[in-house]
Amino acid sequence: MKSRPPIITKMPSFKTLAFLLLLPLPFLCLLLSSPTNPLPRPSTAASAAVSGDVSATGVRHLLFGIASSSRTFPKRKDYLRMWWRPGATKGAVFLDSPLKSPAGGGGGDEERGLPPAVVSADTSKFPYTFKSGSRSAVRVARIVKELVDSLNQSLPHGDVRWIVLGDDDTVFFPENLAGTLAKYDWEQWHYIGGISESVEQNVKNSFGMAFGGGGFAISYPLARVLSRVLDSCLMRYGHLYGSDARVFVCLAELGVGMTHEPGFHQIDLRGDLLGLLSAHPLAPVVSLHHLDYVDPLFPGMNRTSALEHLFEAITIDPGRVFQQTVCYDPLKLRTVSVSWGYVVQLYEGKLLLPDLLSLQPTFTSWRRSRGVSPNLFMFDTRELPKDQCQRPATFFLGSVFYSKGKIESTYKRQVPGNCQQSSMSAKDLLRVKVSSEKFEMGQLRRHCCDVLASSEEMTMEIDIRKCKDDELIAMNP
Ligand SMILES: *[C@@H]1O[C@H](CO)[C@@H](O)[C@H](O)[C@H]1NC(C)=O
Ligand SMILES: *[C@@H]1O[C@H](CO)[C@@H](O)[C@H](O)[C@H]1NC(C)=O
Repeated sequence: MKSRPPIITKMPSFKTLAFLLLLPLPFLCLLLSSPTNPLPRPSTAASAAVSGDVSATGVRHLLFGIASSSRTFPKRKDYLRMWWRPGATKGAVFLDSPLKSPAGGGGGDEERGLPPAVVSADTSKFPYTFKSGSRSAVRVARIVKELVDSLNQSLPHGDVRWIVLGDDDTVFFPENLAGTLAKYDWEQWHYIGGISESVEQNVKNSFGMAFGGGGFAISYPLARVLSRVLDSCLMRYGHLYGSDARVFVCLAELGVGMTHEPGFHQIDLRGDLLGLLSAHPLAPVVSLHHLDYVDPLFPGMNRTSALEHLFEAITIDPGRVFQQTVCYDPLKLRTVSVSWGYVVQLYEGKLLLPDLLSLQPTFTSWRRSRGVSPNLFMFDTRELPKDQCQRPATFFLGSVFYSKGKIESTYKRQVPGNCQQSSMSAKDLLRVKVSSEKFEMGQLRRHCCDVLASSEEMTMEIDIRKCKDDELIAMNP
């Protein structure tokens, strides 16, 4: 590998130098090397690139800038390790100060599987007048500029098409992110992300701002221009709260608005995300944030092992995870809703599809005191019985595997603690088995499913498939 100009152009202090020596791999090598074994690219041909490289956008075209600090990094690096793919994902973690090397040595092992960490440039010349926030907002806003400048010194810019920004507690799903961005022409100016789930947070910030915790993407040509003008914006907007607000206003001054993609999740919610993730919008999940503030994704597991469990499904069929499919068992007069890779819910009787697309408010608002009133949230909610035993029978992901073109996932019954057998619905079922085919990125239509006759006891079998042209998701008559 050829030697590259250094990323940090200021004279580094001795401490910084010592820190940089601890990096698992030189940052620049990671930035510019082509991964040796790129992940399979999404099969969509939606990329409208007109330059030399017309391949569909894949993970290798993304450059991540992760905002962190020496205080939060040690606690949150497990999140990063979960989704970061050494050799496939490119980018760096930006810190406020060098990390202390871990006690007892073994720094190399400790950092394996993580992006390289760099210390952000000094920002003391920029105003910061927001009363109760943290100064780091300016530092974090400049990550996009530091990334672009580091590429610019070593023209050409490799194959970077998008700069992706997120926090150290943002969990990205890289293939889904790449598949989502592949719908857009990266050579145009794009600013893509999502807003908060909380009406209050959007009122406080903006309904047009991509929230930083959910992560957002800026096409490379736009990021280049932004990096030239960002510092002058930072001088004008010291009164704003976050780094995401600073990037948003500067892009607004450039005449660019956010494109909303519903797969980005800021998660300004608390409690149980079941209601949100069992009725995900028709778009691949791109990110989850604030997982420290919500219950573990699967009951009976801690946060880390629950997320690892979810990644078993992500690894096998990322695009289908959380995609909701509804079908009916006409014999038993039941309605089934599958959120693939996560949960199956079963209702007695015939429910209409639109009712199942609205969310069960199993969570509460970000500001706990506000409770669960439906007008707090940015989505449709429906009535949720207070009595746990009156809620639909719920089956959480057990195992998932891939064999001969078919994906089999199983879901195990979870009975709320104090429910009497007699008051439970679907007493005859302990597990659900779901078969599906690999999800193709870029599919816009919800899939259909069938309840099959099961040969196993206490088991429901479901097959997910593409709907026929005229097929409706409904039970006749
Ligand atoms: C990038 O490099 C080019 C060529 O050296 C230079 O003209 C341009 O100003 C640089 N841009 C930035 C953002 O540093
Ligand atoms: C989480 O659970 C796993 C598996 O049960 C265990 O190995 C791990 O130590 C736990 N982590 C924490 C932080 O409790």
